[in-house]
Amino acid sequence: MAIFVTIIVALYWWDWESYIEDHFIGSPKEFAVDFSMLVTLVFLFVHHDDPLGLAFNFLFLGVLDLVWVGVHIAEHPGQTLRLRKRWIAQKLMGIGIYLVGLLAVTYLLDLFPPYVAGLTIIFYASLVRKLCFGELRSRSTVEFSPAKTSDWEAVLQINSHYVTSNHGSEFLLHDLAGFEFDGNADSNQGRFYVARIASNIVAFAWVKDSLNPELLEEIRWFSPTEKKRFLEGRPLYIEQVAVDPAYTGRGIGRSFYDWLIKMHTGTMPCAFVAVEPRCNSGSLAFHSSMGFDRAGEFNSAEFHGIANYRSLFVCIHR
Ligand SMILES: CC(C)(COP(=O)(O)OP(=O)(O)OC[C@H]1O[C@@H](n2cnc3c(N)ncnc32)[C@H](O)[C@@H]1OP(=O)(O)O)[C@@H](O)C(=O)NCCC(=O)NCCS
Repeated sequence: MAIFVTIIVALYWWDWESYIEDHFIGSPKEFAVDFSMLVTLVFLFVHHDDPLGLAFNFLFLGVLDLVWVGVHIAEHPGQTLRLRKRWIAQKLMGIGIYLVGLLAVTYLLDLFPPYVAGLTIIFYASLVRKLCFGELRSRSTVEFSPAKTSDWEAVLQINSHYVTSNHGSEFLLHDLAGFEFDGNADSNQGRFYVARIASNIVAFAWVKDSLNPELLEEIRWFSPTEKKRFLEGRPLYIEQVAVDPAYTGRGIGRSFYDWLIKMHTGTMPCAFVAVEPRCNSGSLAFHSSMGFDRAGEFNSAEFHGIANYRSLFVCIHR
């Protein structure tokens, strides 16, 4: 059991190093929970040859995991409701498994030698590790980079999902199916970036350093100041951004924008969001949550085959 307990402690350490350390704020609450977890992990060693003590210890660790997630969510408000719910649900499930495990251990200790209870603890603690830590791992391992030719197929798939999607509040107008991606070689074409988790592409962004002058002419600015500020700045025009539908609501769009903005320091991020005849309300909510202001609008009798089209032009002034 001592080896098993050492592995559990090492895994907690690994999680801290790999997924948490960079996001750690160091507030008193977060410190208090982290310190309590450290003490609880030390007690795992103390109880390593006492199955009942160990089972209680794991239950307490499960409760602390839940408290840790609660504090972390409160201190890092940039996470979506869906992510919060899923993460909390995983931790509640962990507590449930630990509780059932504790009851099983109490029962088994009456009937069998202690090693049976020990093996049961190994089984259910491994189950908790497998089922209840996925959210922490998946949200923290997104990597961003310029797109390569080999990424194009995945980019097309994500794009095509939103171009053809007739349901939901989010969609894309520009079908990239016929687009000849040249590996970001031609700067007139703009640049494509991808986000990946492990080797899977989970999002892409298409950005340009300027706006088509004809389109720029057509913008009706909400105030002369908006126009002036825009013309004086250096735009980072986001032509398209899309997250694989299986991965939306996990903060990937937000981290992608944060990364793009960091990559293009000194620029003014801007984008169009369609509002009529169909409103991309998801994108509107996303951009406003990212701090984009409504600077103007674009109206067209016919745009990309859509009649009476209207979109909002949104920017971050910095
Ligand atoms: C819009 C899109 C890029 C957002 O990506 P995402 O990874 O789901 O967004 P995040 O999880 O990072 O959310 C960041 C913030 O935006 C908000 N947001 C994102 N999508 C939202 C939605 N559909 N409704 C309400 N708010 C939303 C989140 O609540 C979150 O706010 P918070 O941080 O204050 O809690 C993604 O949903 C998408 O690919 N949509 C389809 C393509 C599209 O419409 N692109 C925009 C074209 S202009």
